[in-house]
Amino acid sequence: MTIETGNEAGAAVGMPLVLPGPWTREARERAAAAETHQAFIRYFRKAMKVRNWTPWDDLPLGEMAALGDRLSADTVTIITAYLGVEDYVGDYVEDGLNLLHNRRERRNLQLAWGMEELKHAEAWELVLLHSGRLTAAELADYREAVLAHKWRMRDDHPGLDTPLGVACYAMVQERATYFNYDEMRKRIRAEYGLPERPTAEERRRGTQVGAAGAFKIVANDEIAHHGIFLELVRIHMKYTPHATLDTLLRVFNGFTMPALYLLPNASALAEAMQRTLLHTPLKQGRAVNNPILDALGFQNKRALERAVQESKKLPPGLGPEQVTFSRTGEFVLAVQPDPPAADPALELSADK
Ligand SMILES: [Fe+2]
Ligand SMILES: [Fe+2]
Repeated sequence: MTIETGNEAGAAVGMPLVLPGPWTREARERAAAAETHQAFIRYFRKAMKVRNWTPWDDLPLGEMAALGDRLSADTVTIITAYLGVEDYVGDYVEDGLNLLHNRRERRNLQLAWGMEELKHAEAWELVLLHSGRLTAAELADYREAVLAHKWRMRDDHPGLDTPLGVACYAMVQERATYFNYDEMRKRIRAEYGLPERPTAEERRRGTQVGAAGAFKIVANDEIAHHGIFLELVRIHMKYTPHATLDTLLRVFNGFTMPALYLLPNASALAEAMQRTLLHTPLKQGRAVNNPILDALGFQNKRALERAVQESKKLPPGLGPEQVTFSRTGEFVLAVQPDPPAADPALELSADK
């Protein structure tokens, strides 16, 4: 798909910069949707062909049974909470589908993402069951209690119930989830009596031991989810910089994980998190927010704040090819570079 911007004839050498246009709101949305569609195809292809797995076939359940009594009570409490949060996947998908009703590429991403997320609750149930720490009846009661409540994004995260808000929030939330699961993987390894890094035997067979192996597989999904939403945010930054940066800043300022207060074991979870310090505001900054800011091209949060203010002042007709911003958050209006001068020596050698 090409986007009609018109005015191409104006870019003659030596002329004052002539802006291509018109970059109307519709043209920007069309361009962003086309790029999102391509990003979705790349994501889906990899999810299906490289990253696919099932909880019932691909997790080392026997090892979980052998080592399950080594897991601490706090570890069990936190994994139970992970099960609860992942079990709201139906509500996350439903909310998303309603918001994204007229955007096919985003709806399809929501469906594919939800299909992967549904495996995570099943994985945590299998970990708890095969580790011998919760019975099938206890797990059924817990999951029943989780489903008794409905989660809605707008209750938890007011102001972010737009397609752009969902993408910004998901980008941060998925990275935070990845961080949590990777920390838990290391914690389980320590409790199992294994070194932090995979042993030669684990590297040889390509999977980590027991519950650590399950956390490795699920964390791998989460970082891929972070990656696709990061890509979406980048696309939107290009076409609608101010709206995207403004939403991003609001997500950073008000970020909390979803649905925690709805969990049947919410207070036990809060205590376990305080004791283990698995995820603290400082760690959120260092391991989640800062790498995201860096990946989006910002030095720090101040740079993002500056970019929000600066992007407000951008002339409305500028297209993505004319606007870049620095790592400190200042916008730079790019002038089309002159094409490189032909090198006669190279042309001669090409003739031979
Ligand atoms: Fe998940
Ligand atoms: Fe995820």
